[in-house]
Amino acid sequence: MKHLLDIKSLTADDITNLLDEAENFAGALIDREVKKLPTLRGFQICMLFYENSTRTSSSFELAGKMLSADMMKISASTSSVQKGESLRDTGLTLKALGAQGIIMRHPHPGAPHLLADWLSEDGECPSIINAGDGAHQHPTQALLDALTIRQKLGGFDGRKILLVGDCLHSRVVRSNVELLTTMGAEVVLVAPRTLVPSGVETWNVRVTQDFDKELKDADAVMMLRVQEERMQGGFFPSQREYNELYGMTKKRHSMMSDKAIVMHPGPMIRGKEIDYPVADASNSTVLHQVSNGVHIRMAVLYSTLLS
Ligand code: NCD
Repeated sequence: MKHLLDIKSLTADDITNLLDEAENFAGALIDREVKKLPTLRGFQICMLFYENSTRTSSSFELAGKMLSADMMKISASTSSVQKGESLRDTGLTLKALGAQGIIMRHPHPGAPHLLADWLSEDGECPSIINAGDGAHQHPTQALLDALTIRQKLGGFDGRKILLVGDCLHSRVVRSNVELLTTMGAEVVLVAPRTLVPSGVETWNVRVTQDFDKELKDADAVMMLRVQEERMQGGFFPSQREYNELYGMTKKRHSMMSDKAIVMHPGPMIRGKEIDYPVADASNSTVLHQVSNGVHIRMAVLYSTLLS
């Protein structure tokens, strides 16, 4: 696996191998006093972020450092991108500097795919890892969510997973739908009609507005942030109405089955898509997902850079 650009390029076996590898890294680190492995010593990895990030950027950075790679971070807001440099020229510059891996977040769908094509023109290309491209894909998020589901629910086959909220603008949804359906889970999108993506009929999912009905026998409920930054105009009447119809309220939380989990990729907006106490409930996996993110990203860096 030279690059990780999207989930659809992965088979069920590739996904299982990456989850196993992440567990191996977690296990290898647990007894070590110094949380570092020599696996990627001497590798230069550049993080190129054109959009804000807390969890994804910090966990990629930690993952690389734990594998002893040299990590360099470039944020578009303080780089020559502000002077008008094109993505292609920035990528070629990083390649000329010796980057063997480029982890990239960009607001435009397909930008990491384009960069991989441009940098391959003369044969040698750094590994490109997509850390989120617009509303398109966020493969490492889906993988860390999958690791959490496997650990908490014991597997995917026949598990019923709800993805709730802004499905239209969410790369987390697109990546998770591809991964979870590949692994045999039943996926239901719960979203206001205005926030259902076009073409969803080809996705192998059910779509509904009836959250309460689907909730009772769900094994996992993944709440989504409303992506205000990708919205122009009103997609629902008010925050209060959104919370009432599509929020994980205390009342809905009490309707869930005992073994079911509440997930959120973060950043979560308490009081909107998830109520304050539910975010901290014992079946909320929000912080567990964050921890899994480091091990998944170690597995991805290892599998791409050493391919
Ligand atoms: C998600 C993202 O950036 O797509 N966050 C993340 O990576 N943890 C979800 C979001 O921003 O709502």
